[in-house]
Amino acid sequence: MPSANFPPARFPSDFLWGSATAAYQVEGAVREDGRTPSIWDTYSHTPGRTENGDTGDVACDHYHRRAADVALMADLNLTAYRFSVSWPRVQPTGRGPAVQRGLDFYRALADDLLDRNITPSLTLYHWDLPQELEDAGGWPARDTAYRFAEYAGLVAEALGDRVELWTTLNEPWCSAFLGYGSGVHAPGRTDPVAALRAAHHLNLAHGLGTQALRAALPARARIGISLNPSVVRPLTPSPQDTDAARRIDALANRVFTGPLLQGAYPADLLADTAALTDWSFVEPGDEATAHQRLDMLGINYYTPAVVSHAPDTTAPRSDGHGASNHSPWPAADTVAFHQPPGERTEMGWSVDPSGLYELLVRYGREAPGVPLYITENGAAYDDKPGADGTVHDPERIAYLHAHLTAVQRAMEVGADVRGYFLWSLMDNFEWSYGYSKRFGAVHVDFATQVRTPKSSGRWYAEVARTGILPGPPA
Ligand code: FCB
Repeated sequence: MPSANFPPARFPSDFLWGSATAAYQVEGAVREDGRTPSIWDTYSHTPGRTENGDTGDVACDHYHRRAADVALMADLNLTAYRFSVSWPRVQPTGRGPAVQRGLDFYRALADDLLDRNITPSLTLYHWDLPQELEDAGGWPARDTAYRFAEYAGLVAEALGDRVELWTTLNEPWCSAFLGYGSGVHAPGRTDPVAALRAAHHLNLAHGLGTQALRAALPARARIGISLNPSVVRPLTPSPQDTDAARRIDALANRVFTGPLLQGAYPADLLADTAALTDWSFVEPGDEATAHQRLDMLGINYYTPAVVSHAPDTTAPRSDGHGASNHSPWPAADTVAFHQPPGERTEMGWSVDPSGLYELLVRYGREAPGVPLYITENGAAYDDKPGADGTVHDPERIAYLHAHLTAVQRAMEVGADVRGYFLWSLMDNFEWSYGYSKRFGAVHVDFATQVRTPKSSGRWYAEVARTGILPGPPA
């Protein structure tokens, strides 16, 4: 990454300063107004699946505290908010007509945001598949892609007058490979072929969903997807380690960007996985369907991966995605994952802003003309209120400063970045880690639901207000 250069340039005045959440991580109210269980309700209620047995039953109680939470966003000078719609709240069985009360919640949320000049950014699917659809086969079943397109159309009809920024899926890699490969995410299946089938049906769902959105939304709507591309680095420059990095790049990144950006699965991915499957679940025309025009591309970034070729190791490799005896990486048994040296967050993820710079430059080139948004970036730290009730989190300020500097550097070399969404607005249900990992710019006391902006939240509010990064923190 080119070296820092102060005083840094001002971000463009229309740059979106946002924060992000996801329905199951914040809403709670899981049995209200007609909502039915999603795969995450089932999974979190299964003993042993989440830390401390935590569930999203109450989470941040955002379903009931919506207006106050939007006021908090305004207090933090946010100009955008990325939220997701809970599929089982608006279409409980995953098919058929929508439930009006569910849609009303999101219409009211969008109205509250617009009243405060906060741009709503809506994600249709942040991992909460209606349980009935999982029972019918889940993402490994082709029909789920068609169900998703129907759901997308229902939400578009209800919110198209209020919401301009739409993303179909959040991090389909996690849905496919953590949900059906390693099983550390719902629904917790551990079948590498099911994971590859799920990845394909998610690509198809994105394509069909985009078509359904375009049919229902006004022309001003901008439609895209949020991916979590891996920055994959070989441990050494040896040909074997370089090939391990190529293999993981295919399974992490090009399995999605191949169809989405080029209309075809990469040949090396099909060859690498040929012993597992002949990919006959890809029907003629599917890759073209997945290849829809993108009005935006969302990039979620946390940490890079370092890999090597390790043919003799049969033990599972830690890749930062939770503990499992099953790898999330199909046909990559000879690849080992390494923890890079240096600073780490509470997740154990190394802090490396150069990875964000690399991704923005890479996807600026691979998706020319497509505006980029950082739809997630942030860090977990063990934040605790002090005796005076305030929460000081200098590590998070340093993390945000370094990553926003990386964003600026990428923009200086031509990446068309239009916005940044801090993960997360507030501490919330961190999937398998339950409430043990705090990513918020706002601290949440889960016993009382009291929200307290952390010092990083105040710092970010100032960046959002001025559009200027201050000098690096001491
Ligand atoms: C991403 C998820 C998000 C959150 C962060 C920490 O993979 O999209 O919901 O859990 O990680």
